[in-house]
Amino acid sequence: NKAIKVALLGAGTVGSQTARLIVEQSDELERRIGARLELAGVAVLDPAAVHDPWIDKSLLTTDTLELTTRADIVVELIGGIEPARTFVLSALNHGASVVTANKALLATHGPELYEAAEKNGVDIYFEAAVGGAIPIVRPLRESMVGDKINRVMGIVNGTTNYILDEMTTKGLPFDTVLKDAQEKGFAEADPTADIGGFDAAAKAAIMACLAFNRDVRMDDVHVEGIEHITDSDIAAARAMNRVIKLLAVVSQNDEGISAGVYPVMLPAEHQLAKVSGSFNAVFVEGEASDDLMFYGRGAGGAPTASAVTGDIVTVARHRVLGSTGPKIPLFSTAPIVDAARA
Ligand code: HSE
Repeated sequence: NKAIKVALLGAGTVGSQTARLIVEQSDELERRIGARLELAGVAVLDPAAVHDPWIDKSLLTTDTLELTTRADIVVELIGGIEPARTFVLSALNHGASVVTANKALLATHGPELYEAAEKNGVDIYFEAAVGGAIPIVRPLRESMVGDKINRVMGIVNGTTNYILDEMTTKGLPFDTVLKDAQEKGFAEADPTADIGGFDAAAKAAIMACLAFNRDVRMDDVHVEGIEHITDSDIAAARAMNRVIKLLAVVSQNDEGISAGVYPVMLPAEHQLAKVSGSFNAVFVEGEASDDLMFYGRGAGGAPTASAVTGDIVTVARHRVLGSTGPKIPLFSTAPIVDAARA
């Protein structure tokens, strides 16, 4: 089999670690795929700023759009909506499969991108867009499709969980902890997306699409962040043996589908109350499966790269076989009801 050409868009926290895994695990990955992965290019804004020893300097390019036209798999790790959307569409329309961790993009334009992948007969995989290293997209998209999912609920933003946890357990002030989260590589480039609940809302929209086969976008999600949580709120919760957590909740009942992100005071013995630091945890309530819980590292370079690399192997294998994974059919017309009412 000829080599599968992989284009990496972005060499930041996640991109760099993905390149490392592809290079370091190349023999192992080849055994699973039945073909070798070949890094065809790494698109960055500033090649001089890339110092990773596992990224061959000759692969660096600033012409991202051109790179999307000459790969079998395009791995989009730039983040944000534009120009990422243009690059992903270019890749799909040039017949490349796409792997992305871009939750903001999928939560605003996902359904169009799923459609474009289908039209071009290629894959779009995005395990890393929700819950970092935790497999949650694949269970909702593939493993559980024979089931009827009633609710998905969890902690899907590591930065806010870390902030709330450090404020609770160490009594540290908000700003100090936020800075720490940024240094550790969990926070978004602009942490307002984390603090304001928008990052979690994007993940809620993605999970709702998969769980309920309904076109649910970021704008359909009711969002409250943690910016108004004070030391005294935290102390008050503690006095009642409760813990404040930022939860994303998507559910479906006879009235329709609701999706929301908001801070909740959980009893200290609740399983989600025990999720500490930057960890994430997601509960899925299926009718046949009953309750499932997914737990692990939801952010950070290496954990997120682990999920990205898994997707690369899956779509690479599909290319070797000339197939794709299951469709993402958004056929439901269930009404979307306001989560604030629920
Ligand atoms: N900023 C995100 C978080 C990164 O803190 O969870 C993972 O999507």
